[in-house]
Parts: sequence; C-alpha cells; structure tokens
Amino acid sequence: MARLKLGVLISGRGSNLEALIRAFEAPQTQAEIAIVASNVETAAGLELGRRHGIATAFIDHRAYADRASFDARLDEVLSSTGVELVCLAGFMRLLGDHFVEAWRDRLLNIHPSLLPAFKGRHPQRQALDAGARISGCTVHYVRPAMDAGPIVAQAAVPVLAGDDEASLSRRILAAEHRLYPTVVELIAQGQIEVIGERVELTPEARRKLSGCNGLQG
Ligand code: GRF
Repeated sequence: MARLKLGVLISGRGSNLEALIRAFEAPQTQAEIAIVASNVETAAGLELGRRHGIATAFIDHRAYADRASFDARLDEVLSSTGVELVCLAGFMRLLGDHFVEAWRDRLLNIHPSLLPAFKGRHPQRQALDAGARISGCTVHYVRPAMDAGPIVAQAAVPVLAGDDEASLSRRILAAEHRLYPTVVELIAQGQIEVIGERVELTPEARRKLSGCNGLQG
C-alpha cells in the first residue's frame, strides 16, 4: 500500500520536523515526508530536510500581496507534490480560512499546552503563571479559529517545583517528539478518524497514544 504523503510546514528550528523525519525514515512506517515548506529562508529545518534528501520549498510571504495569494501558492506547492496530510510544526503564519477549509481534516497542528487551556503565544509561560500542576502538548486538526479544532491526542507532563519557562518547554518538547510521529503513523494506518468535530480512536491507537505521556517527569 502506498505510504501517506506528508507536507511539513515550519518557520524555525524544526525539532518536531526532526522527530517526524526520524520516525518516517523507517521503511516499515505508513507515511513519508514528501516536502518541507517554510516561509523563513533561514529556518534550520529546511537545511535538515535537504540533508535528509527531502524536497524543500521556501515561500517568502513578503513576496505576496496578501494572505490569500501566499496561501494559494502554498496550496499549489503542497498539491503538486501530492501531499495528503499537512503537519504544522512551528509554522508561525496564520493560514486563511479558505486554506484551512480546503485542507479540512487533512491539516494537523501541535501546540505546547493541554488545549483548550493556554491558547496563543507563550503557552508554557501561561501554564506557569496560572500555577498549573500538569501541562503537556496537544495534536489537533486545524479549524479557522487559532489553536482550535478536534483534539486527536494529548501527552501530559508534570510542572515541577522550580520550573521556569525553559525547563517546562524542554519537558513538553520531549513529549511533542513522542506524540506527533505516533499520531501521524496512526492516521496513516487508518486508526484515527475525524467525525464532525470529534476524533475517534481505535483501541490500539488509544493504547499507543497513552504511551506518549511523560507524567513520571
Ligand atoms: C513547538 O513547541 C510546537 O508545539 C509549537 O512550536 C514549537 C516548534 O518547535 N507549535 P520546533 O520548531 O518543532 O522545534
């Protein structure tokens, strides 16, 4: 069976991209990264993609008159590469409603909090400021509102005494690197299904995803 073709969108360091690359280099997996695209030419993840022999695209948002024309170009790049599932991985551009609807149920994001808590910027700092005892990360299907959409999976980590934004971010990031590839592989295996605004998991998917938690620190 053909492997599910992924497009990964990044703007920065690309550690989630790296986790996805490592996971899907294994030939027995059901997905493959067809393209890495970025709106930032210097994004470390673009170089990482190239080093792994993956097609890359730099799409400079400043070269487009408006969001719609940038989104249209992005859509064209992804569609012409045969991408079937788009993974946002630290992509720092808001995508317009038209793009989001065109990729409905085929567009994933990872956010470093247990949504719906702490949407938006600096979620780790928000969690610390609120005195949260547990935080984590969420993979969700994207809908037009920011950091909203059907939740696919979450991994929890403790907030420890003495944590600052950097230490909590590191702990959450380690969970992200477990969760995102696991979710994508399960989607590729057909073990995850979106029905309206809810995501259904097979028992096997549920079991594998619970292994991504990091509550032991
Ligand atoms: C991650 O924390 C992710 O949850 C958020 O942006 C960050 C990207 O980090 N959406 P990286 O570029 O994958 O290292």
